[in-house]
Amino acid sequence: MKIFSGSSNKPLAEKIAEELNNHLSPLDIFIFPDGEKRVRVIDRVVDENCIVIAPTAPPVDSNYMELFLILDGLKRSGAKEIIAVIPYLGYQRQDHIFRDGEAVSLEVVINMLGATGVKKIICFDLHSMHTSELSKIPMKHLSALPIFVEEIKKIIGLSINDVVLISPDMGGVRRIKILSELLNNMSYAAIEKNRDLASGEISAENILEGNINNKKQAIIVDDMISSGKTLVLAAQMLKDKGIEEIYAFGTHPIFSNDASERLQASIIKKVFVTDSVYVPKDKMFDKLEILSISKLIAREIVETLSV
Ligand code: R5P
Repeated sequence: MKIFSGSSNKPLAEKIAEELNNHLSPLDIFIFPDGEKRVRVIDRVVDENCIVIAPTAPPVDSNYMELFLILDGLKRSGAKEIIAVIPYLGYQRQDHIFRDGEAVSLEVVINMLGATGVKKIICFDLHSMHTSELSKIPMKHLSALPIFVEEIKKIIGLSINDVVLISPDMGGVRRIKILSELLNNMSYAAIEKNRDLASGEISAENILEGNINNKKQAIIVDDMISSGKTLVLAAQMLKDKGIEEIYAFGTHPIFSNDASERLQASIIKKVFVTDSVYVPKDKMFDKLEILSISKLIAREIVETLSV
């Protein structure tokens, strides 16, 4: 087996390689002055299973293009089976037509990945639970929830009856129900979030499912944190309704623009994310804790190759 990393998250790729008692095989990735990339596979990969680790986080387009070129380079070099580990799958939120005339970006990127001959995709906490079912390429949808469960147990100690799990929007209800089951049916509730499709602005309207009565601690869980506005808005709403202590968990730390400052300044006590997306030093903040998904990915790679 040969393991390759795109440029988007080498530290995660290195951890996965270490878990597999392996190392990253080199790639020559040259960037031309106009931004185009030239990718060359250096090692011999004929009849080797090849794993490519490349979350397609911002800069999304550039990381996707690089991934396509790596996959193409491997195929042309005679690789046996190619598995793409894309812990964060960019462009997945547009998974259907919301308004007439729109493109379905998820389908476009899946088609393009399919054209590279990739055998399987390993992803993490997809925005919609249905995405893996829609994909024409076999897709393993892993979740960071088991890792979150361990952290949540540490936070809440014995005060289980005072705690409520929160989905900050109705799209996350299935996820919060699964988490509740993993935590002995802990109470959960979901907030009705609305987004203005033209401006992108969001508002938190109401608690639509479950209730937060008599709860002191809330744990908000989301798939991704981009601007951080969803979490901050949800936290404010919960505080206004009497919750005393609020924690947030989000699998993918996209942290666009001033998200880090927004979250640090918020009433949220601590923000837990995973290393599915690399967080550069200038986006780190005191309340942030990063949990690694490397072991889960390594285990899945072993299982995939042993079938
Ligand atoms: C959207 O529905 C997702 O589940 C997240 O809630 C959203 O992408 C988070 O974005 P932001 O941090 O910009 O509010």
